[in-house]
Amino acid sequence: MDRTITTQKVFGRRKGKPLSNRQKENIQRYLSKYSIFNLQTGGSFKLEKIDPTDLFNNLKDFELEIGFGMGHFLFQKALAQPNVGFLGCEVFENGVASLLTKVKEKNLKNILIHPGNCIDLLDNLGNAKLNAIHILFPDPWPKNKHHKRRFFTPENIDKMCFALKMGGSIFVATDIEEYASQMIRNMKYRRDFEEKKMLVREFKFPLGNQFQTKFERKAYALDRIPKYMVFRRVADG
Ligand SMILES: C[S@@+](CC[C@H](N)C(=O)[O-])C[C@H]1O[C@@H](n2cnc3c(N)ncnc32)[C@H](O)[C@@H]1O
Repeated sequence: MDRTITTQKVFGRRKGKPLSNRQKENIQRYLSKYSIFNLQTGGSFKLEKIDPTDLFNNLKDFELEIGFGMGHFLFQKALAQPNVGFLGCEVFENGVASLLTKVKEKNLKNILIHPGNCIDLLDNLGNAKLNAIHILFPDPWPKNKHHKRRFFTPENIDKMCFALKMGGSIFVATDIEEYASQMIRNMKYRRDFEEKKMLVREFKFPLGNQFQTKFERKAYALDRIPKYMVFRRVADG
């Protein structure tokens, strides 16, 4: 599937167990249909500035999920909110195949994906005026020497800020206490974001069990209570 020319290094697994024949066929036949970027001759996706209003007919509200894993949350959200256009991004082939199969079966019209590096997507989403960005259980890279691989850096917060509309929010969940502290530290000095003091119940209301992701389930199975955070964009960056 590796048809994206990524401009930045991607860490972590890109492939898992072999895809089923049906998944392979779906990728072959439908990935370009559900892809945010156009497939160009030679088989790679053409990275270019995109405006979600051009991607989704008649929709006005847009949300993005970064690192959708097996795609469960994004799929359920797109089913539950047909009037919102959902963008998703994931480098793990098996996750892309799994989501694509479900989206195709339901013939969903309000979901598009980038099967590649989220940085490439964010770099082309500036001014997209997204209502929300969801980052659920981003890779924690627990070893000190790997912390620099983490997604939630000041540089990436800038990129998300450019893509969010005023009043839009970043929803983050992690079960790694120390990563949560790092996120809060990185957001604290920013005057363009405020942390919304929400009860876990409020964050989870839209997630609920229906939207539970694989890594959220894993966290609870290990008795780790995730931290849920919402940062609302309240000013220009
Ligand atoms: C710990 S998993 C969480 C998956 C899912 N959100 C969940 O809660 O089950 C983190 C996901 O982020 C994806 N990921 C990591 N770096 C990425 C990148 N640069 N661009 C897109 N996805 C990325 C990984 O492939 C992985 O599926």
